[in-house]
Amino acid sequence: MMSAEENRRLTEVGPDKPMGKLLRRYWFPFAGASEFDEKATKPVRLLGEDLVAYRDLDGNYGLLDRHCPHRRADLSNGFVEQCGLRCSYHGWLMRHDGAVIATPYDDTVNPDSPRKHTVKSRAYPVREVAGLLFTYMGPLPAPELPIWGPFKWTGGFCEIVRSDVPCNWLQCQENTIDPVHFEWAHDNWSQRLAGSREYSGTHTKLAFEEADYGHVYRRIREGQEESNELWTMGRLVLWPMGFFLGEHFEWHIPVDDENSLNISWFYSRPPKGVGPYEQQRVPTWESPIKDEKGAWITSHVINQDIVAWVGQGRIADRTKENLALSDRGVVMLRRAYTEEMKRVEEGHDPRWVIRDPALAECIPLPYVGRTIGGDQMTLEQWKEHPYLKLRLSDHRHCAGQPRRVREEFALAMGMDR
Ligand code: FES
Ligand SMILES: [Fe+2]
Repeated sequence: MMSAEENRRLTEVGPDKPMGKLLRRYWFPFAGASEFDEKATKPVRLLGEDLVAYRDLDGNYGLLDRHCPHRRADLSNGFVEQCGLRCSYHGWLMRHDGAVIATPYDDTVNPDSPRKHTVKSRAYPVREVAGLLFTYMGPLPAPELPIWGPFKWTGGFCEIVRSDVPCNWLQCQENTIDPVHFEWAHDNWSQRLAGSREYSGTHTKLAFEEADYGHVYRRIREGQEESNELWTMGRLVLWPMGFFLGEHFEWHIPVDDENSLNISWFYSRPPKGVGPYEQQRVPTWESPIKDEKGAWITSHVINQDIVAWVGQGRIADRTKENLALSDRGVVMLRRAYTEEMKRVEEGHDPRWVIRDPALAECIPLPYVGRTIGGDQMTLEQWKEHPYLKLRLSDHRHCAGQPRRVREEFALAMGMDR
């Protein structure tokens, strides 16, 4: 059984906490670039730190201390300039590396003062990949940003979906290495929603192992052979906060100890004979977790996950758990975090920090489901396929896809022909 102290060690993400220090050693996504198309500044909270993200007129992204280094005004109320973010209180101008490059009154009356060169805003680097904005909040020099193979795919339709989740990040991430929940929280629950009392195929065999860039789970369900890709290849739980499911990624980013950001990147291949699709901009949309009456939305896959995570409490009390055989992956993951927190404390890079630029350039990942990627079948065949046909009417994973995004998806998939 886990002690309260161990639970705190695994879940607390502040800058002086062991897990906070470990997670700060990795690049992670925190927004979609298209979120800045209409409003150039946005307040964000990451790993317990209040920050402001922005895109200036030159196209530089910045992630700065939310409060101005002058007298602490809220920089999310500021405005962007050609280069940098200007505080709207007295006009100080900060660059994306945190340098203060203008202090208007002082510059006028005492232009030779060296003072502004000694003041800096807290600043973290930001890079855009495949429409996602990644940051790194750890000690310098920053490691390489891994470019996962799918980010180089072309000819399909991408979208980014985000949800604010009111619970600690670890219970979200533990879910990624918990295959049995798929049978219950998704399949059987969806059957109940559809009015059926049927049960889906039960899990008969599970395996978990360490792998390149994370952990892999393998599973067999009733009626499946060991030739099934979910057994031969398995799914990759991407270290330390992600999950790769073949045609989408999910990340569970700590906002603070009691809140998380669920951010997902989806890729849809057009049906055979359609495309390639030339996407101009990767849309980002917010998926609600509750309906207008305040009830949990449980109709979509990720919403079903979120209900499970939030139901465990703001920070799951692991001292009261009774772990079972289905939890071997969860135990493996917790042990890995514990080992890597220790490595960081001993002054080493933790696992899968990449410092070789050539390696980071394009990293292939195990891709379960390639054979049912949409491009293997015509649109007519999609309509008959048990999984693909669902994509023709709604976003399968996240509730609330905006109409403009659905319309672009339909265009990309050739549905309007
Ligand atoms: S508080 Fe920002 S310029 Fe004064
Ligand atoms: Fe799930």
